Amino acid sequence: MSIPTLAELHAQGAVQQPNWPDQAALDTAVAKLRSVPPLVFAGECDELKDKLAQVTRGEAFLLQGGDCAETFEQVTADNVRAKLRVLLQMAVVLTYAASVPVVKLGRLAGQYAKPRSSDTETRGDITLPAYRGDAVNGYDFTEQARVPDPQRLVEVYNNSAATLNLVRAFVTGGYADLRQVHTWNTDFVRSSPIGKRYEKLASEIDRALTFMKAIGADPGEFHRADFHSSHEALLLEYEHAMTRIDSRTGDPYDVSAHFVWIGERTRQLDGAHVELLSRIRNPIGVKLGPTSTADDAIALASRLNPDNEAGRLTFITRFGAGRIRDGLPDLIEKVGAAGLQVAWVCDPMHGNTFESSTGYKTRRFEDVISEVRGFFDVHRGLGSWPGGLHVELTGDNVTECVGGGEALQDTDLAQRYESVCDPRLNRIQSLELAFLVAEMLSEVTPAADPAS
Ligand code: PEP
Ligand code: CO
Repeated sequence: MSIPTLAELHAQGAVQQPNWPDQAALDTAVAKLRSVPPLVFAGECDELKDKLAQVTRGEAFLLQGGDCAETFEQVTADNVRAKLRVLLQMAVVLTYAASVPVVKLGRLAGQYAKPRSSDTETRGDITLPAYRGDAVNGYDFTEQARVPDPQRLVEVYNNSAATLNLVRAFVTGGYADLRQVHTWNTDFVRSSPIGKRYEKLASEIDRALTFMKAIGADPGEFHRADFHSSHEALLLEYEHAMTRIDSRTGDPYDVSAHFVWIGERTRQLDGAHVELLSRIRNPIGVKLGPTSTADDAIALASRLNPDNEAGRLTFITRFGAGRIRDGLPDLIEKVGAAGLQVAWVCDPMHGNTFESSTGYKTRRFEDVISEVRGFFDVHRGLGSWPGGLHVELTGDNVTECVGGGEALQDTDLAQRYESVCDPRLNRIQSLELAFLVAEMLSEVTPAADPAS
């Protein structure tokens, strides 16, 4: 399959693109990106697609998480380690509760571009271009920082390479050892009053591991983890330049990440993003917000997955806690009745954002949980599989979302609000979410093991 040129893509109407002021500099950056080695191998994308096919069939659960927006400054060993650690901790809890494999997908090593509701931001009497992520411009509210700079696209590549390299080293080099990860979880359960609520589940996992040890079972899977990368495919220049023809198959793959998704604001059926992603062979996702109709979902599936291949397409729904129970059933029913193979994943973050009384963009932990509960209830009612979670989180003790066991208040947000975009669950809120979802997961039955 061939892919359209950048000019052809732009001609299709590309929304949410920066106004790059210097075309020659943009061309230079794109030419550089076309020459750099891939960040991921097409065969790895196929492996992830197989795992997502299991999710689609109800034989595995997806955990996708990371920052709303990565920043270059935050590419440090400590930061990447903390994020990975919390994801691994969550995955162990979820695996035990679901009794099926948990597919671990980082929202990292490329999550540098943001769609914005307005092209500009005004503070007082100054209006400047909106911050569109470190891939485009700087966060500082100065004229100089806010000018889109295409050299940043090359920096995205370099920072993604550094992040992915470290993640690969961690997950295969001993850091993801199951017993170690479990010890972190028992530390959380024992040392914090919030963790205490989850003592029962943690001790069940403990017994399962002790049993494995007693019988001398020590499979390689105990010592390493599978982990893949993902981000929103937003900037056409970057994603197009990173799309290569796989030498094994002759098919195009976007080698900037294993999995890429189309955001809520760029999923126009005849738009450039849908066009580009329809041509690549990676597993892909589409966000579906509260205005999505079943017809939209069906049309997207036929455009993006015409062969109806399981694992190719994931719908990431983000309705909001108040709307999921009314909005989601129709989508699942009609997509199912059309015989379409898709994985259903819940993003309980983006439909639940509001401004705190203290002026911060925030989310209530309780709303996040309520949306996840709605997602599970709807799927249980319809006999479909709640395939996974897509969350914005960090391994640090930030104060960006209110509520949770720590009962963070509006007035606490100022203490440590570090996100340059949407509010993330902090380490404790993320672990709490995993334990709460574990309880929900143990009430649903995965598809029967095909081998049994
Ligand atoms: C995001 O995932 O950060 C995002 C912008 O989401 P959505 O496209 O669902 O609004
Ligand atoms: Co976000």
